Amino acid sequence: IAEISQNTQPKPGRLWNPFPHNDHQRPEVSAGGFVVRDEDVITLSYPKSGTNWIKEIINLIHTRGDPSWVQSVVSWERSPWIETPEGLELIEKQKDPRFYTSHLPVQLFPKSLFTSKAKVIYIMRNPRDVIISGYHFHKTLKITRNPNSLEEYFEWFLRGNVPFGSWFDHVGGWLQMRGKENFLFISYEELHQDIRASVEKVSQFLGTKLSPEQLDSVLKNVTFQAMKDNDMSNFSLVPDIHIDHSKACFMRKGIAGDWKNQLTVAQSEAFDKVYQEKMAGLPPGLFPRV
Ligand code: A3P
Repeated sequence: IAEISQNTQPKPGRLWNPFPHNDHQRPEVSAGGFVVRDEDVITLSYPKSGTNWIKEIINLIHTRGDPSWVQSVVSWERSPWIETPEGLELIEKQKDPRFYTSHLPVQLFPKSLFTSKAKVIYIMRNPRDVIISGYHFHKTLKITRNPNSLEEYFEWFLRGNVPFGSWFDHVGGWLQMRGKENFLFISYEELHQDIRASVEKVSQFLGTKLSPEQLDSVLKNVTFQAMKDNDMSNFSLVPDIHIDHSKACFMRKGIAGDWKNQLTVAQSEAFDKVYQEKMAGLPPGLFPRV
């Protein structure tokens, strides 16, 4: 991670913990020694890229469209965060196949992943929209510093001075895994363009065959509105000590291209310049401007 803001500086031996409730009662836990199993299903992303959307899809594919799991267990318990002590405890208790999630950059992920056959789904989103979504989300967070304006957050983002560091390093780092058969790269925009084809692609990758009725049920339960209405998925149950729910909604707009309404022309040009410099090695058209 390039630079991490002072408020999110990890304590020695610890990783940044988004939900540190009861932290003082817990033993020191680190994801460093975690052993990935071949049966594991791992969701990876840079924050605000559609992580919870793809998690919901994965969970519903597992239940073959039965919504009872996603409607009765909060999303961070269905697929816990490996970088939190609470998450690690829950993951260790899961039976195979274990489902978990991480925003860790590739160089900080437990090394056992790279020799395992675990199925990894990395979701990416147009970084211009990641900035907008991140700005609104960071206004609500009580556990990091809050941006005073979009201009300020934009600067932090370009410098990688936000939790989990530089978007450019994160995406560029994980994209090195492209071509490995246990990695699936999918984009937020792809989900928007054709959710049916995307769910089929993910279910095929996971080796779960869905009947037409099961597929329809997955689709019905992963719409923006269905997830916004589901308290187990819409983050409304995150305790007030972590999030100020009055400042913004986690299920905010759920659209692609919102950046065009919110970034100035100057910001957009500044972003393009940095993008071209930092992502020069990547195939063109991966995150188109429109
Ligand atoms: P916006 O803030 O642009 O609305 P993450 O889960 O990585 O934190 O990403 C959150 C973003 O994904 C938010 O974007 C949220 O609205 C969007 N999102 C979550 N579920 C969605 C869905 N079912 N359909 C479309 N967008 C969704």
